Amino acid sequence: MKTIALVTSGGDAPGMNAAIRAVTRLAYAKGFHVYGFEKGWEGLITNTFHKLTPRSVGGIIHLGGTILRTSRCDAFKTSEGIEKAARTLAENRIASLIVIGGNGSFKGAHALSKKTATQIIGIPATIDNDVFGTNETIGFDTAVNTAVAEIDKIRDTAVSHERIFIVEVMGRTRGFLAAAIGLAVGAETILVPEAEINEAEIVKTVKENTAKGKRSGIIVAAEGVRNTSKLAKTIEKETGAEVRFSILGYAQRGGNPTARSRLLACLFAEKAVELATLGKENSIVGIQDGRITHIKLEESCSREKPSNQQLVALAKALAT
Ligand code: F6P
Repeated sequence: MKTIALVTSGGDAPGMNAAIRAVTRLAYAKGFHVYGFEKGWEGLITNTFHKLTPRSVGGIIHLGGTILRTSRCDAFKTSEGIEKAARTLAENRIASLIVIGGNGSFKGAHALSKKTATQIIGIPATIDNDVFGTNETIGFDTAVNTAVAEIDKIRDTAVSHERIFIVEVMGRTRGFLAAAIGLAVGAETILVPEAEINEAEIVKTVKENTAKGKRSGIIVAAEGVRNTSKLAKTIEKETGAEVRFSILGYAQRGGNPTARSRLLACLFAEKAVELATLGKENSIVGIQDGRITHIKLEESCSREKPSNQQLVALAKALAT
């Protein structure tokens, strides 16, 4: 019987548990043992795991976070750490390692792939949606919905007080979350790290909106955009409007996964187990143009996902 190792790594994302459940059950049905390594790469370095069975992953499909727990593991950034993890895979005779995580985790997986004969398969799960090779990652839809629910509430107070709110959302260095959230809440402006931020232009837009009769407004800014709190002061000074700055923060990473995040988890798991059965290339699974696909792990790590400026432009066109 072959063994699959499963690990969740990096920032947690809603839907990781649904993926753990689906991988375990589908792998068992194909005759694999499944070992769940704990706390991300740390579990591979310390050889800490427990066996997962179809029964032990019951009752988790709806839960946020990850039952395997996760970490940002500094030791895995060293060659010693990577070699230890490779030894763990060899000692436990792991045929395939399935990594549920984001960009950073896949870069780590790629480094590990150079030191091990174990096949490595990535399942993209991050609220940032910044993985090359998939249109969407597990957890993204949930984070968008969480943020939209919060910003809808912020709009209530913005309207009542006739204020402009700059709301900062997560996304690390990319603007995928901000663009989707901004469009969905009807933001007057969306700020993403991929586009140059022109303060004068933003001030002009606020003034134009006021002239049109708008008495409040929402600006959604990605965390990768710097000096957003300073921008709030500039808008206040230049326009005379009352401006507030609000950081949504870690609530975006928690909560029960939406149906869409769970579906993606099940579909990605199915593809990952299929690839493990074939036992060949190191890959990441994904969804592209509505189809479940896979590309080489190396390709995903070496390329940058193109930004979605179309959503930002559409939000602007709609904020008339
Ligand atoms: O990758 C997910 C994410 O939540 C990013 O949006 C954010 O920049 C980062 O993780 C926060 O990282 P940490 O968990 O290390 O604070």
